[in-house]
Amino acid sequence: MAKPFYITTAIHYVNDVPHIGHMYENIAADVIARHHRRMGDDVFFLTGTDEHGQKVERSAAKEGILPIELADRVVAEHHRLWKTLNISNDDFIRTTEGRHRVGVYELIKRIQERIPDDIYLGSHSGWYCQSEETFIPDNQVKDKKDESGHPVEQTTETNYFFKLSRYTEPLLRHYRENPGFVYPQTRLNEVVSFVEQGLRDLSISRTAVKWGIPFPGNPDHVIYVWMDALTNYISALGFGDGNHPRFDHYWPADIHLVGKDIVRFHAVYWPAFLMSAGLPLPKRVVGHGWWLRDNQKISKSLGNVVRPHNIIDEFGADPFRYFVMRDMVFGQDQNYSDEAFITRYNGDPATGLGTALSRSLKMSENYFGGRTPPTPCDDNVLKTAAEQVVPEYLQAMDDLAFHRALETTWRLVAAVDQYIQSRQPFSHFKNHGADETLSRMIWNCLEALRIAFVMVSPVMPSIAREGLSRIGADADAIGVDELKWGRLSNNATLRGGDSLFPNIDAEKYLEKKMDEITPPVETTQAAPPDVAKISIDQFMQTELRVAEVRSAERVPKSKKLIRMMVFTGDGERQIVAGIGTKYTPEELVGRKVIIVANLQPATLMGVESNGMILAASIDGEPTLLSVDPNVPAGTKVK
Ligand code: MSP
Repeated sequence: MAKPFYITTAIHYVNDVPHIGHMYENIAADVIARHHRRMGDDVFFLTGTDEHGQKVERSAAKEGILPIELADRVVAEHHRLWKTLNISNDDFIRTTEGRHRVGVYELIKRIQERIPDDIYLGSHSGWYCQSEETFIPDNQVKDKKDESGHPVEQTTETNYFFKLSRYTEPLLRHYRENPGFVYPQTRLNEVVSFVEQGLRDLSISRTAVKWGIPFPGNPDHVIYVWMDALTNYISALGFGDGNHPRFDHYWPADIHLVGKDIVRFHAVYWPAFLMSAGLPLPKRVVGHGWWLRDNQKISKSLGNVVRPHNIIDEFGADPFRYFVMRDMVFGQDQNYSDEAFITRYNGDPATGLGTALSRSLKMSENYFGGRTPPTPCDDNVLKTAAEQVVPEYLQAMDDLAFHRALETTWRLVAAVDQYIQSRQPFSHFKNHGADETLSRMIWNCLEALRIAFVMVSPVMPSIAREGLSRIGADADAIGVDELKWGRLSNNATLRGGDSLFPNIDAEKYLEKKMDEITPPVETTQAAPPDVAKISIDQFMQTELRVAEVRSAERVPKSKKLIRMMVFTGDGERQIVAGIGTKYTPEELVGRKVIIVANLQPATLMGVESNGMILAASIDGEPTLLSVDPNVPAGTKVK
């Protein structure tokens, strides 16, 4: 019988729509799920939303709507996004669902029945972090901020408590006996040293919050959002439903995949609740790294959220999936930029897999009438290459080292390229025609590519299907057995088509984007009457200043972009402007210009721009606004 394999992501807050961090987590979980499915496991993949608590209550209040209305709207966005990204989850749990509430009540009941004093009513004073909705130990508070920089305040509450302190030793023993419980090792070390300091009892109810599950027997309290949320992993399996075959079959989870910031909740609180309730513990808590922007975690509270919808809409889900899996070393942090996406995309898939495929298809079409060649081959360098990379690849997938798995796959793709170069099938055909040697040669290329497509299938499921069907293989044949050499049929019909990875014109794309970020100021046309008017206060929010260009040079590989250092009276700053088709760097130096001085920084083709230069746009051609040379740099314009 197939082995059950249960994988979950964190359930995401619904106070805002998902960003790249959430997308990454679901893509990584999806890659793991798809890999296990093709290994023959009976996979159950769960994701969902965490809908209770103060954050959601406040976001909804700000909009003047009910929390559930906000949640419904954001959940619809989740469903749309996971469909676009081809996430193959088997279930989606919402903590506002009845089945979830039943599971939470059952967990509390089991704790109360097994160890009655594990939950008690008590009062507690300490530093409370509203953003994390948790009390923070004194030694983690500095200047009224927690370790992540969130503000904390002294609070006293009478709450239900969970006797977490009782679980210090049992948890430490569990980590010792199961060193793989938390992965990677660095995260385990952090958890162990946190628990070694001794655990304090945990407040598990709130009276200040209304939007939550009422505490059983005392509806003045709602259940602490983390106790509520963590239980999703079992409520989704029907726990608490009396008859729960899914729970019996899939629990304990094989992997809880979460960001490194919430490993502690999963590796300390969650197992302690389960121990207390007498339930088995999950097998592994896996902590992934963070997507950063300019070395800071992307998050709503920092206001630096990245939602690369434009990238996904324009280039498709698979290239984006490829990028996040290839660019991030699993477990570590990585900075996001559109430029990094384009560099990766143009560098790896387009010039590798796509090119090797179109060359091999073209040769099959020219020499073998658009069919896979008639003679297979069981002894050649590509077979040896495939037999070398496949075990390394499988090991990397098991280690969750997706970047390594993809790197390994591209070694096989490179081998196909080298093979074509060294065997010269074109000249072979000229000299000998479509003989048996040529048949073997081309078949080898297609067979190696078939294996490469099977290898990439968890990461790029649609492209893998397309690639397999183009080379005459079964698009559904992606099981691990298909990684063996020799499966491609002879004389199967091939299918051409557009390039799998059309090359991205980086300059064009990024400049188009720049225009979106810094639209040229239209001074030559009167505003159409239907444009909404702004108030003088709104206008005054824009800080316009005179600046003097001190130095200027072209941004490498760009026709349009010029990088300038401009003096603003009290210092210099760097600005990048798309004026290179009209002005040379030399004629800009010494010139006075008007800049928008309080724009958020933007990165254009890898160069940071701190402001925008005003120009009139005539048919897209920029003309700088001129300033009387006697006006000193730094003067405010209004
Ligand atoms: N609701 C809780 C989780 C409860 S699980 C029982 C939560 N939600 S969240 O929306 O803030 O985060 C959801 C997941 O996204 C977490 O695993 C979190 O670590 C991850 N990420 C949020 N921002 C991230 C990045 N910038 N980069 C990568 N992942 C990060 O926490």
